Amino acid sequence: MIISILSADKKWGIGKRNGLLFSLPMDMKFFRTTTSGHVVAMGENTLLSFPNSKPLKNRTHIVLSADETHNYEGVINVHSFDDFLQKIKEYSLKEDVYIIGGASIYNQMIPYVDKVLLTKVDEDGGAEVFFHNLDEDNNFECVEESETFDDNGHNIKFTIYVNNNKKSI
Ligand SMILES: NC(=O)c1ccc[n+]([C@@H]2O[C@H](COP(=O)([O-])OP(=O)(O)OC[C@H]3O[C@@H](n4cnc5c(N)ncnc54)[C@H](OP(=O)(O)O)[C@@H]3O)[C@@H](O)[C@H]2O)c1
Repeated sequence: MIISILSADKKWGIGKRNGLLFSLPMDMKFFRTTTSGHVVAMGENTLLSFPNSKPLKNRTHIVLSADETHNYEGVINVHSFDDFLQKIKEYSLKEDVYIIGGASIYNQMIPYVDKVLLTKVDEDGGAEVFFHNLDEDNNFECVEESETFDDNGHNIKFTIYVNNNKKSI
């Protein structure tokens, strides 16, 4: 399966100043345990936002950058969206592939994902970049919503949306 995993505020905002909107340790733990041991696919800015711009432990990384001279150690580098999709397809035939950002990648991947693991934060984080509003997309259906948890002073819920009209790669 191809699965997007992200957090968004109540306006579907997901980032500002090339960073996250909130510090959410419980959500980070969910991200780590969910993606650990799997393939993660991302845009270049997301790789560069990791500590020391290094790949995460115990995961295979597929990284899209438009500039062919940008090639990072320890990851699979691709330089066109088509090559990005082909790599995702190749791995997804064998195992789950998680789409982990950022904004441009999440939105381009919308037609191709089987589901979205979305952590909803019940606040306005003053975002500059936004995710597609899944509640206004007839292809997507919210099939699970957790109770509300307090995560570092923020009210969050873990939700799952499925894509009922997935486009094959
Ligand atoms: N809330 C969350 O869960 C979450 C998770 C991850 C990231 N984020 C946030 O998302 C924001 C970063 O998003 P972003 O969109 O700037 O970064 P990004 O998606 O990580 O990376 C964008 C990179 O991918 C390249 N790219 C994108 N589409 C391409 C295409 N079709 N062909 C070739 N290259 C392509 C871009 O090149 P060009 O610029 O040259 O086109 C750019 O180098 C940050 O604020 C971050 O905190 C939020």
